[in-house]
Amino acid sequence: MLTLEKLLSQYNPSTGEISGASLVEQHLSDLKGCFADTAVYERTLAAGNSLLYTVAAFGPGSGDGDLHYGLGRLMPGRIGDEYFMTKGHLHAWREAAEIYFGLSGEGVMLLQEEATGESRMVPLKANGAVYVPGCTAHRTMNVGNVPLTYIGVYPAKAGHDYGSIAKTNFRCMVVERNGKPAMIERSQK
Ligand code: PA5
Ligand code: MN
Repeated sequence: MLTLEKLLSQYNPSTGEISGASLVEQHLSDLKGCFADTAVYERTLAAGNSLLYTVAAFGPGSGDGDLHYGLGRLMPGRIGDEYFMTKGHLHAWREAAEIYFGLSGEGVMLLQEEATGESRMVPLKANGAVYVPGCTAHRTMNVGNVPLTYIGVYPAKAGHDYGSIAKTNFRCMVVERNGKPAMIERSQK
């Protein structure tokens, strides 16, 4: 039997921490190439390399049937009209799906099917769970005024593959239009 520390973890949405897990910080400089308006990005970065989000991941086991979960805490803000976002990734084991549970704040997820490029924007907020199918790139945006917090549960062997998104970015982006999030093609920008 696993130890109690592996069976029971404590997560804290206010700090982004999980007991027994390290906290990874992503700052504005880590998101180079993600935002469409590079001039505003560079100007904002020159004014300060602010913290965009933190992720803590808890993984009690690494066997075929094991599960991990991550706690994300994403700050509110925009670069031009594009909301603060996570880097976004595919799973290294492409078939691995994931479920995101919204805890607090107002967010959306951008889901992009790898094979077709088909994209969808799905709300992520308290009491809502977003199913991310396998073979689907996913990115989270904070579209509100307070930190967005959420938990993602995924197979231990999913792995995070950032490479293809870092190279091509997502086909679509989420911008503010008349006070509301809207998904548009990046090429339309
Ligand atoms: O595993 C997940 O999908 C999440 O916990 C993400 O890691 C989290 O949202 C941060 O995003 P990214 O890993 O794309 O930087
Ligand atoms: Mn994931």
